[in-house]
Amino acid sequence: MGIGRTSADGDPREPPALVLAGRAWVRGRLQPVEIAIDTAGRIESVGKSRAGSARHDVGDAVILPAATDIHVHLRDPGGPSAAESIATGTIEAALGGVTLVGDMPNNEPPVSDPDAIRAKEARVHGRAAVDVLLYAAPTRPAALERLARTAGAFKVYESPTTGIGEGVPADELPALLERLASLDLPVSVHAEDPSRFSRAGVPRDPEGWNAHRPPEAEGAAIDRLLNAPPRLRLHVAHVTTAGVLPRIRTAGLSFEATPHHLLLSQRTGADARFKVNPPLRSEADRRAMWEAFRRGEIPIVASDHAPHPTEAKDLPFEKAPSGMPGVETLLPLLLARVRAGELDLAVLMAAACDRPARWFGQPLGRIAPGHRANLLVVDFKARTRLDPRRLRAPCGWTAFEGFEAIFPREHYRDGERIVVDGEYVGRPSGRVVRPEFARGERTEPE
Ligand code: DOR
Ligand code: ZN
Repeated sequence: MGIGRTSADGDPREPPALVLAGRAWVRGRLQPVEIAIDTAGRIESVGKSRAGSARHDVGDAVILPAATDIHVHLRDPGGPSAAESIATGTIEAALGGVTLVGDMPNNEPPVSDPDAIRAKEARVHGRAAVDVLLYAAPTRPAALERLARTAGAFKVYESPTTGIGEGVPADELPALLERLASLDLPVSVHAEDPSRFSRAGVPRDPEGWNAHRPPEAEGAAIDRLLNAPPRLRLHVAHVTTAGVLPRIRTAGLSFEATPHHLLLSQRTGADARFKVNPPLRSEADRRAMWEAFRRGEIPIVASDHAPHPTEAKDLPFEKAPSGMPGVETLLPLLLARVRAGELDLAVLMAAACDRPARWFGQPLGRIAPGHRANLLVVDFKARTRLDPRRLRAPCGWTAFEGFEAIFPREHYRDGERIVVDGEYVGRPSGRVVRPEFARGERTEPE
């Protein structure tokens, strides 16, 4: 705040650095406003703003809060075969309207001690286009408290998956959750019970993969979480079947669904690009998840961005790794569903922007005074069809080829434009953030 500076109208505050004018998503609806952004990149006021600043009118487009994707794998450090890095993945995020990503710990080696977190932090500074929250994989009980002082969240694996040879044994899970509860960080769980995986035959396509790691494995793994300590901030990653939703909700847990489990099923494609953990499910399961999402019954949508190189996905199905890229297309795919009249903007804004930001304890995801001015300008008329050649992801492929998408025209980070006309123009000023929870505050799924 400048001392002794007084604007023409007698207001002692510095004039806002920028005023964005247009229809904006404010308090649950689109309404014409002026958003005043201060020199620190925070939203100062929403409504009628003071004069004397740069003013940008977005015309027919709308202003939305930028999204938070709480589940990505940026593979950095990732070894020579990684088709991604913090630099590239966060530019994809910026282009897709995601202003904060939660980066998972299944790197090589896994991020499970404070030094590994510090090393990852060093890779964020000067290289990330958007902010990053770092997950840690808990290991030895004695080291947990120290780890909690550097990590932003924890990820617990109940089953093997990319980079995770073995999940936490079922009999050790309750004690681990008990210890995590006292640390007050968000805890995400990959919920598949490996004892329910089928041993029959070799899975050769997504249907076979679904039979191998069936919905029952998810249900059984989720059942183990239902009696977790109530004060634990517990979140179930990538839920794929609607049958488990009432149990999760009754237990008061947070959870997410991915665009691929909402939009693709086991028959959408036959090759290994459609191999993912947990697997793509039947069309009936997919539809039930989509309907639950539409009704606002899924609190958070997250991409589980897992950009495997094409050479790895070209291997025979049973040898190919699981996972697909998605941070760049998370919001654009769903904005296109809004435009098509299949999804309420209110549901999307809550699941992609507001709740994930709150889950991470961040002043993001809402257009409200005091929040960071991380905002998008979206022209709902600008529909495109996804073409991997026009995506930024170095892996060079998408399972959503040909799907309709609406990319943000502009992305503001702390009041500064990092995307203009759909092109990334920012600097690598992304930071590592950690949750800032008000004392006793819990984000309950609504
Ligand atoms: O399909 C997946 N890919 N599921 C996971 O749990 C991990 C992810 C990856 O890191 O490749
Ligand atoms: Zn994941």
